[in-house]
Parts: sequence; structure tokens; C-alpha cells
Amino acid sequence: MNAAAMRAMAAAYEAGPPAPERTPEMVERGRYRIAHLQRTDPDGAWVAVDGDRYVGVALSLRRGQMWFLSLLSVATDVQARGIGKTLLDASLRTAEGAGAAWILATADPKALRRYALAGFAPHAGYSAMGQLDRSVVPANLGVRDGAWSGHGELVDDVVTRLRGAPYGPDLAAMAATGQELLVAEDGADRGFCIVRGGAVGSLGATTPELAQRLLWAALARAEKPGVVVDWLTADQQWAIDVALAARLPLVAGPSSCRRTLLGPMTPFLPGGAYG
Ligand SMILES: CC(C)(COP(=O)(O)OP(=O)(O)OC[C@H]1O[C@@H](n2cnc3c(N)ncnc32)[C@H](O)[C@@H]1OP(=O)(O)O)[C@@H](O)C(=O)NCCC(=O)NCCS
Repeated sequence: MNAAAMRAMAAAYEAGPPAPERTPEMVERGRYRIAHLQRTDPDGAWVAVDGDRYVGVALSLRRGQMWFLSLLSVATDVQARGIGKTLLDASLRTAEGAGAAWILATADPKALRRYALAGFAPHAGYSAMGQLDRSVVPANLGVRDGAWSGHGELVDDVVTRLRGAPYGPDLAAMAATGQELLVAEDGADRGFCIVRGGAVGSLGATTPELAQRLLWAALARAEKPGVVVDWLTADQQWAIDVALAARLPLVAGPSSCRRTLLGPMTPFLPGGAYG
């Protein structure tokens, strides 16, 4: 249900070529994410049912002071009848008392309306997408492969500065679903990038310069012929500059909807599942 609703949404509202067929790896990662968040955040996990049919799902997570909506989806044939609002309201119960609450929204105008009406201000995002000319990737980036066992602390330290909360248990979920970790350390400056099936999952650093090097390294890792970097909001100019230097076209894309924030959120490219 969720995958079909997301495909229909992408075809109707998102730029770029049609979403590729889901690979077994993507299906497995999606299932793992749902089971993981049901375990860590049962009070943020809701489904809508119509008889014996599942028609909607919402998953939110609370990490310390931070609340994040991981998933909201309603079956295509029953959208725009209030199910999304009911699911979002239920998920938002765990946002009570949170110092930060934010959502990464798709380009579906129904989603943007729902979130804006719930007090989340939309920040327009761009996506950089296209064929990467590998000859433009700078050399000597100083980025190396990280290990989930050894670099979890680095990732959590950096991401806490940026968004006000660590990934905590979500690191184990990313490791278990085969996501790769890149790290960079330069004196006191540190940063990470999570690479998922050759695409940028999330990226954060203590300086924009280090974040740029990590983004270049992640682009160079891309397995697919075309690369996509989402959530290039106005506060991620460092990443927009990399996209321009890489000659990747910028197209209007999904946005970041924010109610309250704890950290600067930059230089940071969040991940759709865990923020
Ligand atoms: C986004 C989504 C979860 C919302 O669920 P829903 O059940 O359709 O939402 P609701 O019916 O509660 O609310 C939709 C609102 O948009 C309005 N709306 C309907 N069609 C619209 C359109 N084409 N443009 C703008 N607004 C529209 C509805 O009138 C309603 O507003 P109202 O309650 O003030 O009248 C659902 O549409 C969906 O699954 N979309 C595809 C997947 C997706 O993009 N998910 C978002 C992940 S961030």
C-alpha cells in the first residue's frame, strides 16, 4: 500500500524519471524500518484500517528532545478524505514537550497542506539529479570508509550538534540494512555521510568545507548512472554549490517542514527514514 501510494505520488508530483522498480534490498530495508520503529516508538506507529484492509500508515520517532515524522502514507484510492489528518494527529502525540519537531515532505500538495496546517512551516527544497561526470570530482578528499561499530559515536556527536538529538538506536537499523558509512576527520572537525544503495542517505559535518568533501565522496560512490541529492533547502548553500560544480541540474523537489528546531540544521542533509 505504502509503496504504491509513494509511486503514484512521485509520478504525479515529482520531477525526474519515473521511480525505478523496488529491488528486494529496498523492500527489505522498508520492512526493517517499519519493524524497527514499531519497536522503538510504538506510540508513534499507527495504521488506518478499512474492514480487513490497511489503508494508511504513520511512523514517527522521538529521540530525546527531537520528534520526526518518518512515514505518512494513505492508499491512493482513499486519499483526501481525512485519513492522513487522523494518522498525523495520532503520531503527533509523541511530539508533546519536544524541543524540535520536523518533517521531510514529499512534493504532494496534500502533504504540504496537512503539515502546514499542523504548524510545520514548509522550507522549499531542490533536488540535484542527473548524470555525474566523474572527471569533475576533486581528488584527495580525505574521506574514508567508516565502521558502524567504531564510528557511531562520531556520527551521533555530529548529528546531535546539528539537529539536537542523536540517531541512537537508528544507527543499528542503518547498519543492519547494509547502509555504508563514510567519515572524515580533520583536526577537531568531523563529519559523516551515510550512503544507501549508492545514494546519499544523510550527511553532516562540523564545517561546510568538510561537508562538501563528504558530498563529493558520496557522489563519486553513486552506483546508479544517475545521482539524486534531495532536501537542498536555502540553508544548505554549501551542498547547492557542490551540485553546481558537479553540473547536476537543480529541480524543485521535496521540502523540509519545521515547527521548532534545536540545532542549526546545517551543514546537514537529512535522511528520509530517521531524519
Ligand atoms: C499526504 C497524504 C499522507 C495525506 O493523506 P490524506 O488522507 O490524503 O490527507 P487528508 O485527507 O487528511 O488531507 C488532505 C488535505 O489536502 C486537501 N487536498 C486534496 N487534494 C488536494 C490537492 N490536489 N492539492 C492541495 N490540497 C488538496 C484536502 O482537501 C485536505 O485538506 P482539508 O482537510 O483542509 O480539506 C496522502 O495524500 C498520501 O499518501 N500521499 C502520497 C504519499 C505521500 O506523499 N506522503 C507524504 C509523505 S511526507
